[in-house]
Amino acid sequence: MEFQLLPGGVISGEARVPGDKSISHRSIMLGAIAEGTTRVSGFLEGEDALATVAAFRAMGVVIDGPEDGEVAVHGVGLNGLQAPAKPLDMGNSGTSMRLIAGLLAGQAFDSELTGDVSLCKRPMGRVMDPLRLMGASIEGSAEGRPPLRVHGGQGLRGIHYDLPMASAQVKSCVLLAGLYAQGRTSVTEPAPTRDHTERMLRGFGYAVHREDGVISLEGGGRLGATEIDVPADISSAAFFLVAASIAPGSDLLLTHVGINPTRIGVINILGLMGADITLKNHREVGGEPVADIHVRYAPLHGIEIPRDQVHLAIDEFPALFIAAACASGRTVLRGAEELRVKESDRIAAMAEGLNTLGVRNEVLEDGIIIDGGVLGGGVIHTYHDHRIAMSFAVAALRASAEIRILDCDHVGTSFPGFDALARGLGLQISARVD
Ligand code: S3P
Repeated sequence: MEFQLLPGGVISGEARVPGDKSISHRSIMLGAIAEGTTRVSGFLEGEDALATVAAFRAMGVVIDGPEDGEVAVHGVGLNGLQAPAKPLDMGNSGTSMRLIAGLLAGQAFDSELTGDVSLCKRPMGRVMDPLRLMGASIEGSAEGRPPLRVHGGQGLRGIHYDLPMASAQVKSCVLLAGLYAQGRTSVTEPAPTRDHTERMLRGFGYAVHREDGVISLEGGGRLGATEIDVPADISSAAFFLVAASIAPGSDLLLTHVGINPTRIGVINILGLMGADITLKNHREVGGEPVADIHVRYAPLHGIEIPRDQVHLAIDEFPALFIAAACASGRTVLRGAEELRVKESDRIAAMAEGLNTLGVRNEVLEDGIIIDGGVLGGGVIHTYHDHRIAMSFAVAALRASAEIRILDCDHVGTSFPGFDALARGLGLQISARVD
């Protein structure tokens, strides 16, 4: 599928973007190993979360739905998973692979995890290293990539792990393996990352401690089924926060968005750039803070992105780079080397697209410098990365000519129905199946 975008447009109206991807994955994983039936609403019916659903079905868990975002997970308890008959295909989803690897390390059976071309290029040593320290037997390719083969029945022991990189996936992998380990498992992180695993474990009645930056749990407890209302994904909302901020005349309300403090870097960074964003109707839903977000057009200016915001906005940088391209002056991002190992090398992929549109930029090893200016049109390559596709769709609002975005199939991993929703809000987008 490719997107074609006519230049210009105004963003207005009200929308609820699809459910949070991180929370959707975890609702299935924890629901599956809980005792009783967990009911989930607002579930993201995107390919990544569906890959997680398929993996647990393959391990004997009965899951009803999703239907209109409703899912019922009939949990089998901590030790009730069964050996899958064939390798578990995680598609494009790094979260599925890395978190499920932690659960599989603690099982009595052998298993194998695989994925698509993009996922099979991503580093897995970062989860294999701590799992091996816990006593797991797990192998990847020679370069530490998928497929991963896990040999069960190893008897894990709790460890303390100092995360070498700020990664919620690695943190969650270790904590999930810790459920199966003897004794206490603890982690420290170099910078705070999304804490949905910790929050949700507590929601399932599992004690998770946090003291002086050390997150810990004891193995061998039990999870009790619960109800989960998944908020709209701030990472999907981000495209429209940027869209409305850069298109003159825009006025948009995004409802029921998750505003977990570990995820709101995009709001903070856009605010520093001069965006007009207000949060209303604050509430808490199943342990996660939620609000409606009102955003209106405002002229943006370039900034030096504060280091303490980088990991709180890690998935939103492709969209933020478009904001920077439309801002006056220079935006500088450093300390974001993790962007190089996402669904694509997001620094390289975004720089290439910005070059196509004629936006001056300089690539750094761990970031980018972008000089805002006039955007032209052109043909964009997404490198199988949903967020590259959606970011350049938004750029069309300020482009002077048509933008064609090739290879947009992966948009469905996180944001099914993106083009229809975007069209309804004012983007001049059409999707063509190639
Ligand atoms: C995620 C963690 C982040 C993020 C990804 C989802 C999660 O990855 O980029 O989209 O749900 O835990 P890293 O842990 O690699 O930073």
